[in-house]
Amino acid sequence: MTDIASFVAVLPKAELHVHVEGTLEPELAFALAERNGVELPYASVEEMRAAYHFSNLQDFLDVYYAGASVLLERRDFHDLTWAYLERAHADNVRHAEIFFDPQTHTARGVPFGAVVEGIRAALDEARARFGLTSRLILCFLRHLDEAAAFETLEAAMPYREHIAGVGLDSAERGNPPRKFARVFRRAREAGFVPVAHAGEEGPAAYVREALDVLRVTRIDHGNNALDDPRLVAELVARQVPLTVCPLSNLRLRVVDDLASHPLRRMLEQDLLVTVNSDDPAYFGGYVNANYVAVAEALGLGAAELLRLARNSFEAAWLDAGDRGKLIDELAAAAGA
Ligand code: HPA
Ligand code: ZN
Repeated sequence: MTDIASFVAVLPKAELHVHVEGTLEPELAFALAERNGVELPYASVEEMRAAYHFSNLQDFLDVYYAGASVLLERRDFHDLTWAYLERAHADNVRHAEIFFDPQTHTARGVPFGAVVEGIRAALDEARARFGLTSRLILCFLRHLDEAAAFETLEAAMPYREHIAGVGLDSAERGNPPRKFARVFRRAREAGFVPVAHAGEEGPAAYVREALDVLRVTRIDHGNNALDDPRLVAELVARQVPLTVCPLSNLRLRVVDDLASHPLRRMLEQDLLVTVNSDDPAYFGGYVNANYVAVAEALGLGAAELLRLARNSFEAAWLDAGDRGKLIDELAAAAGA
């Protein structure tokens, strides 16, 4: 391991932007395809992995939704989530806030309950075995309409206690946050914490709308917010967290190369920025690989890496006692 990799490895951290469907490794996809009698459009694991070349977000989404077709039963969602949690634990992730896309599954006839119960069982096991705590965030697919999002919110109500927040993902351009203003209002009234993907491919104006219209407390990605200095000033003043995903940005061509990634500028401007993996099975690395790749490309040192890990706890939905403990553990790990 490089010096950076071994430093990153010992830091306790939270992961706040990871889609459970995006943790489906080709090996597990093939195993589930066989178990469920589903055909994948690839002859082998190698061919599936070799197909992961994307020119933009939509290119990726086509492959990602096709991969999810192998997920049918409660135990499939359990096995998928468990595989992620083992990887996260190996990366010293102490707390994970995990997105899931119920509409991708209910559209294929999978019951909402099978999805949530399968994921939930794995989260409970990770807490018991690793002390890894977690929250679940239901994402609405923004390329679908408002009525479909309302139906999904209704389906979630019996599982209210298991779902901490709602988010917004899928194709950003042409699907502005305001399309879901009423759904988010209902979700907030029901006690879900609102977040949204914004400013990944969409403009700074979508970040502004996510804040003002959806009243989100955290922005997923947020790269293009940097185009609007007044918006940046507000994000800084309010310390609204940004969940940034460097390898995702690279693989979806949101940035040309990691050396031009905005993370250093975000840190310099005092944005509450965090590092996350997004869809690690598709983008070539779990959370530690994201820290290492961006640190190497931008020349980030120990102080900046420590700041990023600390930010992950500051931005997480933890109670004050747990947050304080994790930040103390981080300081001890960094000093050792
Ligand atoms: N952006 C939008 N939708 C997504 C992403 C992303 O990075 N990953 C999975 N769904
Ligand atoms: Zn995402």
